[in-house]
Amino acid sequence: MTATTPPLTVPGDKSIAHRALILAALARGESVVRNVPAGLDVRSTQRALSALGVTFREADGALLVSGCNGVLSAPGEPIDCGNSGTTIRLLAGVLATRALDVTLDGDASLRGRPMRRVAEPLAAFGAQIVLSPAGTAPLRVRGNPNAPAGDVAITIPSAQVKSAVLLAALNAHGVTRVHGAIATRDHTERLLRAFGVACESDGTSLRIAGPAALQAAEIDVPGDVSSAAFLLAAAAAVAGARAVIDDVGLNPTRTAFLDVLRRFGADVTVEATASAPEPRGRVTVRGAALRAITIAPDEVPGLIDELPLVGVLGAFAHGTTVVSGAAELRVKESDRIATFAAAARALGVEVETFDDGFAVRGPAHFHGGAIVTAGDHRIAMAFAVAARAASVDVRLDDPDCVAVSFPGFAVALDAVA
Ligand code: S3P
Repeated sequence: MTATTPPLTVPGDKSIAHRALILAALARGESVVRNVPAGLDVRSTQRALSALGVTFREADGALLVSGCNGVLSAPGEPIDCGNSGTTIRLLAGVLATRALDVTLDGDASLRGRPMRRVAEPLAAFGAQIVLSPAGTAPLRVRGNPNAPAGDVAITIPSAQVKSAVLLAALNAHGVTRVHGAIATRDHTERLLRAFGVACESDGTSLRIAGPAALQAAEIDVPGDVSSAAFLLAAAAAVAGARAVIDDVGLNPTRTAFLDVLRRFGADVTVEATASAPEPRGRVTVRGAALRAITIAPDEVPGLIDELPLVGVLGAFAHGTTVVSGAAELRVKESDRIATFAAAARALGVEVETFDDGFAVRGPAHFHGGAIVTAGDHRIAMAFAVAARAASVDVRLDDPDCVAVSFPGFAVALDAVA
């Protein structure tokens, strides 16, 4: 893009939008949620909430949500959560303390993902949760409306697990304390406060008193920094290229990738425009000759969705880029260590894999090739970025899978130059 090209924008943040719709659904009164992304994942949450009796209407481009004041109704059939892990895990939390018996299901990818990680902590609320023998969906939740509050330890650093517990705590009786691996994206905590619920943090634990009454709110969803990451990486990998993205979320639990771009050697400028309930602003990235970096295990939770991109940038950087402590990548929309490595090798990149990560040697001698995305949106977008930055032809077996998070991605990528 030239200095006169207008800044880009990206769809609204998926993580924030899921949570805004769920909390609006539980609230009393009509909430207004602006900039809801059109991606299929958030639609899965909206459809699921409709099946639970919540009504939505659109006005002036915003989604108006008529909250059920905590009283959801039982759907007649299983709820299809599509490809969305956030939908199924957060709803499991909501339902764990409600007087309903609901089955949550999803597509083949979602049916392959681990659900004991939510079923086990939610059992502390007396919910009965039945999974497949493999510990996967379909997931039948028989909630306990008389759930006692308690002390819940989070053992996996997953914002989905933490959020499921916080959502269950909303309808438990007494103060729930959530501790352990809670240093993950904090959108649920911030949005709970926006909907009038005191979610207190002392740095090592969170506390919520239930039953909590949520009040309708107006939420303006910022652009998704994890979607912006693909466009920013496309600029970072090419010396002299530039991408400017406006109105993107800058929540510090989500922006580790911007520091990663700096460590690779790209020039990154951040101009904040607002701070509450979610920080947002403009990000500008200028490409440069990149040097390899190492991602330490404690950085992984803050970068989890960007790690395929870290691998792609590693292929453009001088030296060996190493990611470790990232076994969670194996249970995302695909096994992202395996799908990343196979796709990178198909383009001539040297990759070594470990149980919990990978090493990429750069700069690679890229050639064109065919990529198996395994239906994984982030793999598809990461390799579209690689193709563009390396100027090679890449055929994605399923380019449409990007629609779960970033419809219009190909056009946006074309605007980075
Ligand atoms: C998300 C949390 C992350 C992330 C996912 C969205 C969320 O998953 O990978 O894309 O909205 O809470 P985990 O919580 O399983 O790490």
